[in-house]
Amino acid sequence: MRKSLNLLALGAALAWLATHAHAQDGSCSGHGQTVEGKCACTAPLPVDDASVGYVGDNCGTPVHRLFLNGQDIAETCAQGHVCNVVAPGDPVCFAANIADLAAGSYHLSLLVVSNSVDAAVTLRGLLTNFTAATDPATNATTVTPLAYPNSSAVFSFALHTTRDAPSSQLQLTRRQLGYGAYTGLYLCAESTASTTIMLRGAQHSCPHTLLPNGTLELCNGRGSTDACPHGACTCPPPYAPPANWVQTAGLGFDDCSATLQQLAPGGTPLPVPGHAPGTWAFFAVEVPAAGAAQLHVMAAATEAPQGGGSLALFLRYQQPPGEGETQHDLAGDVATAGSSASASSSWARDASVHLDLLKSDAAFRPGTWYLGVYNKGSGPVTHAVSAALYACLNDCGGRGTCAADTGVCTCTDATALAPDCVASRYELKLGVPLDVAPRPHLVLDKLVVPGVKALLASAATQRLTVTATFNTTEGASLPPWVTSRPVVVVSPKADDIAPGAGGSVVWPEAPLARMALSQQGAQHTMSVGPWMLGDDGALHLALWNPLSGDTGTAGQPPALGYSLLVSTDGSCLADCSGHGTCNAATGTCTCTAPFAGGDCSVDTSALGKVCSPGAVQPVRREDLRGTCWQPCKADGSGFEAEGCGELTCDGKTAEHGNLRRKGTEKLCVEDQCAQGSNTTVVDAVGRTACQQACTCPDDGSACVLTGVCLPGTLTCLNGLQLSKDGSKCESPPVCVEGSLRKAYDLAGGAAGSTFAVCACATAADPASCAYTAPSEAGGNAGGVVSCLPGYEHTGDSAPTRLSDGSAVMTGGTCVVAQHGGGGGRRRGVSGGMVFFYCLLSIALAAGLVVGGKYGLIWWEQYKYGRSVFSQGYVSWPLFGNRNNAGGGADDW
Ligand SMILES: *[C@@H]1O[C@H](CO)[C@@H](O)[C@H](O)[C@H]1NC(C)=O
Ligand SMILES: *[C@@H]1O[C@H](CO)[C@@H](O)[C@H](O)[C@H]1NC(C)=O
Ligand SMILES: *[C@@H]1O[C@H](CO)[C@@H](O)[C@H](O)[C@H]1NC(C)=O
Ligand SMILES: *[C@@H]1O[C@H](CO)[C@@H](O)[C@H](O)[C@H]1NC(C)=O
Ligand SMILES: *[C@@H]1O[C@H](CO)[C@@H](O)[C@H](O)[C@H]1NC(C)=O
Ligand SMILES: *[C@@H]1O[C@H](CO)[C@@H](O)[C@H](O)[C@H]1NC(C)=O
Repeated sequence: MRKSLNLLALGAALAWLATHAHAQDGSCSGHGQTVEGKCACTAPLPVDDASVGYVGDNCGTPVHRLFLNGQDIAETCAQGHVCNVVAPGDPVCFAANIADLAAGSYHLSLLVVSNSVDAAVTLRGLLTNFTAATDPATNATTVTPLAYPNSSAVFSFALHTTRDAPSSQLQLTRRQLGYGAYTGLYLCAESTASTTIMLRGAQHSCPHTLLPNGTLELCNGRGSTDACPHGACTCPPPYAPPANWVQTAGLGFDDCSATLQQLAPGGTPLPVPGHAPGTWAFFAVEVPAAGAAQLHVMAAATEAPQGGGSLALFLRYQQPPGEGETQHDLAGDVATAGSSASASSSWARDASVHLDLLKSDAAFRPGTWYLGVYNKGSGPVTHAVSAALYACLNDCGGRGTCAADTGVCTCTDATALAPDCVASRYELKLGVPLDVAPRPHLVLDKLVVPGVKALLASAATQRLTVTATFNTTEGASLPPWVTSRPVVVVSPKADDIAPGAGGSVVWPEAPLARMALSQQGAQHTMSVGPWMLGDDGALHLALWNPLSGDTGTAGQPPALGYSLLVSTDGSCLADCSGHGTCNAATGTCTCTAPFAGGDCSVDTSALGKVCSPGAVQPVRREDLRGTCWQPCKADGSGFEAEGCGELTCDGKTAEHGNLRRKGTEKLCVEDQCAQGSNTTVVDAVGRTACQQACTCPDDGSACVLTGVCLPGTLTCLNGLQLSKDGSKCESPPVCVEGSLRKAYDLAGGAAGSTFAVCACATAADPASCAYTAPSEAGGNAGGVVSCLPGYEHTGDSAPTRLSDGSAVMTGGTCVVAQHGGGGGRRRGVSGGMVFFYCLLSIALAAGLVVGGKYGLIWWEQYKYGRSVFSQGYVSWPLFGNRNNAGGGADDW
């Protein structure tokens, strides 16, 4: 019932009722008057039990009275109106007086039920004020709402019924009711199909729920009526808060919806069945003063989470935690910084959440800690909560001895890595499988196969194969909702991969290849190319186990074991010609005497013959960057020395990228890029960057970049900006057209200043914009001359044209004002404008660039003679203009 609740964000003006409005008959449905083209409803509230009110854009939606008495609305309301039927386009509203909620500490609950499954009913609530006024002449009292429902009303909340949940309930607390700030409530129901509805409202001093059978259940049914004497529930254990609880709203101790249980570290996980969304479950854990370096708490789903349930953990010292920043010391299930899949939360990986309190944390203190498990998702979760206390970090991975006084692990397993013996580093041999028995705490193992490069006879003919399988404790199968699986990755930086929080892993860089072991017990195979080897010639692998939830044994991390084999995937030349044994791991032949050669085809006993026809011998050719397989000469006297038989290219080496054959030609080419990929290219002078496609010629030549930017990928560097058509990068505009910049003060008794104007030669071409360069010697031509009070503008002015065809008057100078000489043309710049310039100069002096907006406002004012000041944009005496030039204001 709760999940369909939807508190609307305030401020969202809804188009509600505009669409449902009855036909515009201009008469406001007979229940209103037209004011400025809108209907003002004359009776937005029912006057008494026998009347009906009308609201909506056209005052056509009826309003009935609703009493918060826990009773269903009647089928017929005042004046014989049917009031429990809602149809598309025919909403119905109810009004309830909630003035007395302010007096008591009341809770309000609403229950709406749609009696037809095909009708989705939305009930919107508008919290407002109903104000009563008494006419002293007649002693008649009229009640008027501050606002009533129509398309411009801002509704406060909404409830929805759906096919799956035909009943929807909402509890409003004192806080949500504004602590008495509202005295009236409108409720309006609309529906997608015709239906009868059941609507019920109740108020009580205690938190309560309206049950569909008509019962008002107080305190979630966990306290009795006398358990809520003063409007606060007295909840029995396990619903009771701790004795020293600092009362905090929203945790669920007010209405007995949250539980508090004692959680014993290392003990049996405590089950939490059907943990509802938006609610808490709390646990108290004791952290002893000595011998505890880490408290690990976790919650793991024990059934598949329903409808998007998702848990978060919070820890707080001595008080039950809340979600707010100040309401907890530690929060869990926060995505770790880093890249790729490791950054996703453990909840997404295996429906478990974890939180560690470490002795090294500033918040660490011995004593009672409270764990809060909050369902932040939208569906219920059935889970189990457990805790573990370790004297050393991660219990030394279960593979070390812990010095409890110092908290330092001494690993007992030679492969285990400091500091917590959790990770292992294994050296593998080609062809020799590694079997790791299931162990708890296995998060990350690093596997190195050294000297692989040297073992590969030819980089081009051989590939490495990694085969792996995993197993959990006693073959226990993974629950179906655990979608994560152990992953084997190839990365030359495998040594730098580090375990992160909550079973995650932080990769220094993206792995070159990865293989998920998707099925328990099954063999998974991955091919590794020679170019994936590290600079040290070794193959570096890592096994990451993202399964951190408890999948079986009580309170223990799940144990994981695996088996992994690295072998070469290449057969021996000519199957060793039947004269030797093939080492599949290295692809080399061990010849039986008297045969010799790479393929054991050389019969050293045959007189004079060095090789037999069909045999080949590898010859390294630096010039070709590859290996030529030279055939045996026809007479068997030796291998061909000229030319190149079959060519295999070097693959990837330190000096060059991946080399490959150019089709069937005896030529190795190096690709500049990978086919089908796009590469970011920065131009030689560093002005632009863009994506270029890779083109691989049909003749097998090296793949090269096309040299042409892919459309829409051009990015400008070095402060340049993209031209309007997006084709090139250009310098940003010098200025915005119409903006002004102070050039200089006038000299020699002419009190005023000259401003340069930004003008553009071509409309909408920022590159063509520049400030004019007025000079006093040049008669201030091109500059806007602003005279101080007592001075007026004179002399030759000539317009400076802007690109849109408009003009700014520029030029001239300032002379001492000669009053009374009027009647002629306008004289320069008024006090108002001076003030404007004054503002401008303040802005300029402060280093601000006066943008086009201000310049254009100024221009508009100038052109149309209207003052910004008279429009109330600014109040100029406030700015302390010395000469309030009232006389000049008409110049604007
Ligand atoms: C209104 O009520 C007041 C007090 O109850 C009374 O004195 C007064 O006469 C009433 N006026 C009318 C018009 O009934
Ligand atoms: C909606 O009602 C308010 C009064 O509550 C009224 O001022 C406003 O003009 C109405 N809007 C429309 C669109 O009818
Ligand atoms: C409603 O009225 C109460 C008291 O009459 C007042 O305190 C409150 O501010 C009003 N609320 C609104 C939203 O105007
Ligand atoms: C209403 O339902 C609740 C729980 O579903 C039950 O405890 C209560 O007795 C019922 N009341 C009536 C009057 O049937
Ligand atoms: C998994 O481990 C169990 C116990 O460690 C073992 O008996 C079983 O054979 C293993 N299964 C596989 C497929 O390795
Ligand atoms: C390369 O760019 C083109 C054009 O923007 C795009 O259609 C294509 O998907 C890109 N290819 C890759 C591998 O990103």
